[in-house]
Amino acid sequence: MTRVFISRDMASVALGADEVARAFVDAGVEVVRTGSRGLFRIEPLVEVEVPDGRTGYGPVGPEDVSAVLAGTHPNRLGDVEAMPFFVGQQRFTFARCGVIDPLDMDAYAAQGGWVGLDAARAMVPAEVVAVVRDSGLRGRGGAGFPTGIKWQTVLAAPGPEKFIVCNADEGDSGTFADRLLMEGDPFCLIEGMAIAGHAVGADYGYVYIRSEYPFAVATMRDAISRSADRVAPFRLEVRVGAGAYVCGEETALLDSIEGRRGQVRAKPPLPAIKGLFGKPTVINNVLSLAAAPFILSHGASAYADVGFGRSRGTMPIQIAGNVRNGGLYEVGFGVTLGELVNGIGGGTESGRPVRAVQVGGPLGAYFPPSMFHLPFDYEAFAAAGGLIGHAGLTVFDDTVDMAGMARFAMEFCAAESCGKCTPCRIGSTRGVETVDRIIAGDRIDENLEILRDLCDTMKFGSLCALGGFTPYPVLSALEHFPEDFGGVSAFATAAE
Ligand SMILES: Cc1cc2nc3c(=O)[nH]c(=O)nc-3n(C[C@H](O)[C@H](O)[C@H](O)COP(=O)(O)O)c2cc1C
Ligand code: SF4
Repeated sequence: MTRVFISRDMASVALGADEVARAFVDAGVEVVRTGSRGLFRIEPLVEVEVPDGRTGYGPVGPEDVSAVLAGTHPNRLGDVEAMPFFVGQQRFTFARCGVIDPLDMDAYAAQGGWVGLDAARAMVPAEVVAVVRDSGLRGRGGAGFPTGIKWQTVLAAPGPEKFIVCNADEGDSGTFADRLLMEGDPFCLIEGMAIAGHAVGADYGYVYIRSEYPFAVATMRDAISRSADRVAPFRLEVRVGAGAYVCGEETALLDSIEGRRGQVRAKPPLPAIKGLFGKPTVINNVLSLAAAPFILSHGASAYADVGFGRSRGTMPIQIAGNVRNGGLYEVGFGVTLGELVNGIGGGTESGRPVRAVQVGGPLGAYFPPSMFHLPFDYEAFAAAGGLIGHAGLTVFDDTVDMAGMARFAMEFCAAESCGKCTPCRIGSTRGVETVDRIIAGDRIDENLEILRDLCDTMKFGSLCALGGFTPYPVLSALEHFPEDFGGVSAFATAAE
């Protein structure tokens, strides 16, 4: 019987993958549902099994079954992995995503699954921590904190009860890597959490997933129950968020799991010392934890050998916004912003020139094409007044109004602020008003000075990065696109 592979990922389903899959089933074809390979332009993608691999067709509709099976469909892609979008990738974390049925334990094991966990369990915890430290892995949730040091702190913290918490809140605009992984290779995350559990002495884990991800919630719950015996005595459960961006901040997330309104806690104490229910807790992003199986199965140096400067290993980069090849691109650090946007991303979908790219979600800076030489690297982006964050890129063409985007940053902060500290709670609302005055042409120079002063207060006076990083998009818009803020006098002020 002919066998085809069709993604069951939420993005593919939104583009019609379920209808396509049904049409193939109705035609008597065996359909294997997979995760998404991550290039949305070719979804719904159908890959037909052939003697030497798979032949892809996409996008296709339910009416295309016979043309696909006959090999005559005009959207024939050939071997999908040989397409330019995939050929340059280094898929350490996403190796299985789009290839196997995400809930098939045998397929997972056949493709290298559980090797990392078995290797970890053959070591004493301190050795596992040392491997992760030597890999150079840094937290993929935003701050880039070394994962090995975090694990070491929890391992060293006294106490019989510790927790592993996976941050799957994924609230940044233009990001979807956590979701793709949870829907496309959930056992990889489970394995990573079990490795972390062994490394620090925790036997219980929580996966905190945003409520906007119902497919990921269902897939993770199913995968957790299927793999329970394999990862025992480690146990885990899914908790569903309620839609607040700030609940992605690690201490607000812990409050939320504990059943309280998500509000940022003052640090210290660090969650590694006093975290969930007051116990030592590892809290890591999905991608940080999902990198652990590769590191433990292939060794620290296989990971550390790839990368740039102090940014080691690969980063699953998400290219979104007004871009032709929107999707997930996993590659070693060091690729330039220009390669990502114009080369891999293929420029704008509208066909107009690229004017700005926001990197790192709603708190990330806007970069103009003149900065496209920047290598993807934590330090290089920080030195350029920005951040990598969760590696989401949102592309804009030359119709974007950057004063409007600066206003949006303040408005977003005002809407999402947890209200605990004044610079963020009050400053963001005053920021919206000040940008509005600049847009209206009211005493531009004076108001630009107030805006810069306000950004300074928010940056250095906020308790967490929501208030502290909102100035990044505002100041970068001012610095790189001064012409949108009232002309020549604004340029002089912004350039100071
Ligand atoms: C407002 C705000 C929102 C955040 N949202 C997320 C998120 O959605 N996912 C995430 O992994 N980290 C998020 N973070 C970062 C977390 O606080 C924390 O640094 C991260 O979970 C640590 O894991 P890592 O070391 O693996 O990156 C957010 C931080 C802030 C200040
Ligand atoms: S910066 Fe904003 S979100 Fe963070 S603690 Fe202060 S009020 Fe809450």
